[in-house]
Amino acid sequence: MTSAAVQTPSPQQGNGELQYTDADFRRIAAILMEDAGIALPASKSPLVYSRLAKRLRALRLKSFKEYCNFVQSDEGTSERREMMTALTTNVTHFFREPHHYEELKTRVAPSLLERARRGERIRIWSAGSSTGQEIYSVAMTLLDMEPELAKYDFKLLATDIDPKVLEKGREGLYSNAVMANVSDAFRSRFFKKIDGPIEPSWQIRPEVRSLVSFKELNLHRPFPMRGPFDVIFCRNVVIYFEKSMEEAVWSRFNTVLAPGGYLFVGHSERVSGPAANTLRTCGVTAYKKQG
Ligand SMILES: C[S@@+](CC[C@H](N)C(=O)[O-])C[C@H]1O[C@@H](n2cnc3c(N)ncnc32)[C@H](O)[C@@H]1O
Repeated sequence: MTSAAVQTPSPQQGNGELQYTDADFRRIAAILMEDAGIALPASKSPLVYSRLAKRLRALRLKSFKEYCNFVQSDEGTSERREMMTALTTNVTHFFREPHHYEELKTRVAPSLLERARRGERIRIWSAGSSTGQEIYSVAMTLLDMEPELAKYDFKLLATDIDPKVLEKGREGLYSNAVMANVSDAFRSRFFKKIDGPIEPSWQIRPEVRSLVSFKELNLHRPFPMRGPFDVIFCRNVVIYFEKSMEEAVWSRFNTVLAPGGYLFVGHSERVSGPAANTLRTCGVTAYKKQG
């Protein structure tokens, strides 16, 4: 097939600058499915072009066919990861879907904190954490309830397939625009203001950062850890997965979730498949493991 068959060609394709065909798109989609479980519908073809064009230019390649050959070769292993990074969606916000933080504060955290004060081990996991806003929102919610959290065996884990977003999460440095949902009280308590020429940026304070570990983890592969986790946030991640892959992920979460543990999912996601027998709805896109 020729590039004319690809939907909504970008201006670059019109110039014929980089050759891109339906077959190339299908190869890229197959690689992304194999590596990350992410399904790319044909409607995403122009997006694939626009996100990868600069990679091709950096590599001085003229066609996506050459690019596919390269990422599928032994020498192309690191470019394959670059490709995945370029194609994943990393959008996230502090206190996104705020009802989950309200739920955490009112229904979930009081008993977790009580158990932690008794010396029990508590673990919370943000799976598909992107640049850390989700896990830091959890940390701030908890620290607001228990400033001495670090004294307890209470740890937060943030994982993602993309090492670049994890690096940003570890650094915990956010632009002023990103801080829109963070209250003034939380800004001054949990962030250090760093003045810049136009706007300040904000760095999460070491006492918040030290509660969180950022680790690379591909949800498309068996989990390297056994848990148990008391709470898992996996929001706006499986929405990009193929159905069977999505159900496999729910089952794996079910396995590592402690009895009575909670799973929070994104606004357009629902637990389905075998895990739905034990993960029961207990609020808006919130599930509790029976037992
Ligand atoms: C849209 S962001 C969601 C961030 C956050 N959970 C939220 O709701 O704000 C999706 C994240 O999932 C990650 N992701 C995609 N596929 C993944 C996989 N197979 N394993 C782990 N993380 C994955 C992406 O890299 C991206 O950072």
